Amino acid sequence: MAFKRIATGMEELDKIVEGGFPEGSAILVKGSPGTLKTIFGLQFLYNGAKQYKDKGMYVSFTQGEDSLRQQADMFGWKFDGLPVEFKNYDITREPDMEGLIVSDIKTFKPTRVVVDSLTSFLSKLPLSREEFVADQIFEAIKKVGGIPISEDMLLRALTTRFIRRVREAGTSTVVYVYEERTFESAKETCEYLVDGVIKMTKIEALGKRTMVVEKMRLTKHDFLARTMSIGPKGIVVEK
Ligand SMILES: Nc1ncnc2c1ncn2[C@@H]1O[C@H](COP(=O)(O)OP(=O)(O)OP(=O)(O)O)[C@@H](O)[C@H]1O
Ligand SMILES: [Mg+2]
Repeated sequence: MAFKRIATGMEELDKIVEGGFPEGSAILVKGSPGTLKTIFGLQFLYNGAKQYKDKGMYVSFTQGEDSLRQQADMFGWKFDGLPVEFKNYDITREPDMEGLIVSDIKTFKPTRVVVDSLTSFLSKLPLSREEFVADQIFEAIKKVGGIPISEDMLLRALTTRFIRRVREAGTSTVVYVYEERTFESAKETCEYLVDGVIKMTKIEALGKRTMVVEKMRLTKHDFLARTMSIGPKGIVVEK
């Protein structure tokens, strides 16, 4: 069955993934600090809006809209007049972050969404024990019988539910930014759950950056690490 692909606008990356991410897919972009994850997200939304008139939504928890726009400006990406919304949520204040994001997606109906980062979303945990207990998932786990609820189980359950609810909210192609080395077990769950995984690295000894497509469902791709650099127009993946 034919389906649409959502091009990233990063030429070599699009070639690797047969033209783009399958429409409606969930993609994990993972890497340590400073591996260009946020720039990747901004470039994905900017290229989509500029080249394809795709509506975009940038969901952030730590970096504010001004800082994101300032970073984008450095590469000449002006979001004024483009159908892109920046949503900055305060994790410490919003009791139902998941519900809010899902409702924003349903209202705005973006073609592309960036969640920066899934790790920040999860860092809201652990909540108080009472809040856990009031949650349906944990009620269900308890019914299994006598299993102590570990933080790992909670994180995995919440990640699974969040990604599923975002998927059900519409047909958006979603890039989830994941900060490496945090919530290891949740990360593994995410990697199985999502449709695509892109790993961004920096090799300090060589002063080089690389990008590799570790997984992309419905796509024939290689998993060779490509050198990636940052130029005046953002990320460039080399052949
Ligand atoms: N104008 C620029 N020109 C060249 N390189 C830049 C420019 N702006 C930022 N960078 C590089 O990009 C890096 C930041 O990229 P980005 O914010 O996308 O990282 P990140 O993976 O999101 O990091 P974190 O996990 O800390 O949020 C900087 O450390 C710097 O190396
Ligand atoms: Mg970032």
